[in-house]
Amino acid sequence: MRTTIKELLSDYKKLLHHDITVQGWVRAFRSNRFIALNDGSTINNLQIVVDFENFDEEIIKNISTASSLKVVGEVIESQGSGQTIEIIAKKIQILGDNFTEERDKTILQPKKHSLEVLREQAHLRFRTNLFGAIFRVRSAVSFAIHQFFNQNQFFYMNTPLITGADAEGAGEMFGVTAFDLNEIPRDENGDIDYSQDFFGKKTNLTVSGQLNVETAMMGLGRVYTFGPTFRAENSNTTRHLAEFWMVEPEVAFSNLEDNIDLAEDFLKYIINYVLQNCKDDLEFLDKRFAEEQKQKPEKERASEGLIEKLENVIKKRFKRVSYTEAIDILKNSKENKKGKFQFPIEEWGADLQSEHERFLVEKHFECPVVLFDYPKEIKAFYMKLNEDGKTVAAMDVLFPGIGEIIGGSQREDKFQVLIDKMKAMNVDEHELWWYLDTRKFGSVPHAGFGLGLERLILFVTGMTNIRDVIPFPRTPHNAEF
Ligand code: 4AD
Ligand code: MG
Repeated sequence: MRTTIKELLSDYKKLLHHDITVQGWVRAFRSNRFIALNDGSTINNLQIVVDFENFDEEIIKNISTASSLKVVGEVIESQGSGQTIEIIAKKIQILGDNFTEERDKTILQPKKHSLEVLREQAHLRFRTNLFGAIFRVRSAVSFAIHQFFNQNQFFYMNTPLITGADAEGAGEMFGVTAFDLNEIPRDENGDIDYSQDFFGKKTNLTVSGQLNVETAMMGLGRVYTFGPTFRAENSNTTRHLAEFWMVEPEVAFSNLEDNIDLAEDFLKYIINYVLQNCKDDLEFLDKRFAEEQKQKPEKERASEGLIEKLENVIKKRFKRVSYTEAIDILKNSKENKKGKFQFPIEEWGADLQSEHERFLVEKHFECPVVLFDYPKEIKAFYMKLNEDGKTVAAMDVLFPGIGEIIGGSQREDKFQVLIDKMKAMNVDEHELWWYLDTRKFGSVPHAGFGLGLERLILFVTGMTNIRDVIPFPRTPHNAEF
């Protein structure tokens, strides 16, 4: 097996003066002598020293940025600054042809490219330092999620992507078709008959695994699902995707407060994991973040660096505020009175817009905020009705720079109350007969939440557009790759 650059750099002493084989892509080739090689295992490059007199001219000529190489050479301590070791090349093999002229029309040409341009070549952006760092962090976060739940005795359940249910009752679904494109079923008016799509049943791509994972919770106690979810909302923002990854734990014998505690512990665990395990990538992202701040007018600059922000978030307890208190704060805020909100808050009952959430988090409390007990009308049918008959035991976790990162609730566990809410909110109770069954046989108080993975990745990487933290973003008019 080849040695990865990460292995080599983290444990180089035992390899000093040994010959090793490394393989990777050329990031730079200076003075026909120094190759900066990267293999993706770490953000750090390995310096390969080429004594060109020992090599075929043809090989030297063909080494350029983006070439892929196999190098055999001796590990020595580096004399130069900036690296601890380097490799004195003994054999170099060019693995992949480099179509230099074509390369120069891509983001692989050695210069700085804007994020917009990088997005247009999503298949090549993995080769950049920035996207290497982002996707290594994303992978670490996913691993930390599984580790957190495993340590806390949760079981990982897989929930279906094709479903007949609209878990959120918001109607933002992509239908599933099994049409033969030459024989599209049509009704008597000639319109496409979507009612017969999944072998005779109307189905859609799931908006949330929650309803399924709730049924598993009723037998296994503590469970979570973690997979892609789909929303057909035609919103072109920096925080919405049509396909995003959601983590949804569901816990039996648990109430709203337990749920908030779990969400806070969970988020802090993951952020801490990244701080401990992604140091090189975070340092790179931290520098990038600082440079980006310098480009901004002073008033708009972040008050803390990226790493500092992450360290501070895990130290402080999140602020817990009821919806009713939040509305009072917003109504009485200068921003609201001076008409600075695009959507002024006048009455209890209004749904909060992201500008309100961000005001609470970034200006008023200046820390993560958990809002709870929302009016029942603006939340999903499955949330537990509070004793006041007006609010439900819902919670949203709001993060600085992001807004809503988690949405969850204690669930309505009483059969009759749930049926009444479904009727009132026009949710088809026949379609969800299986979900209702769970409230008939040993129903228990339970709670859970959903974390939008990409929103958390935005937070930990300091990126600002959700399209840059998922390998292949799906947004309106973006399904190219
Ligand atoms: O608040 P949401 O819609 O909640 C649910 O789907 C519940 N069934 C979760 C549960 O209780 N099990 O979505 C949960 C989270 C949001 O807080 C947000 O972080 C993320 O999912 N999210 C999106 N992320 C990217 N693009 C979108 N279009 C998103 N919609 C929601
Ligand atoms: Mg929500």
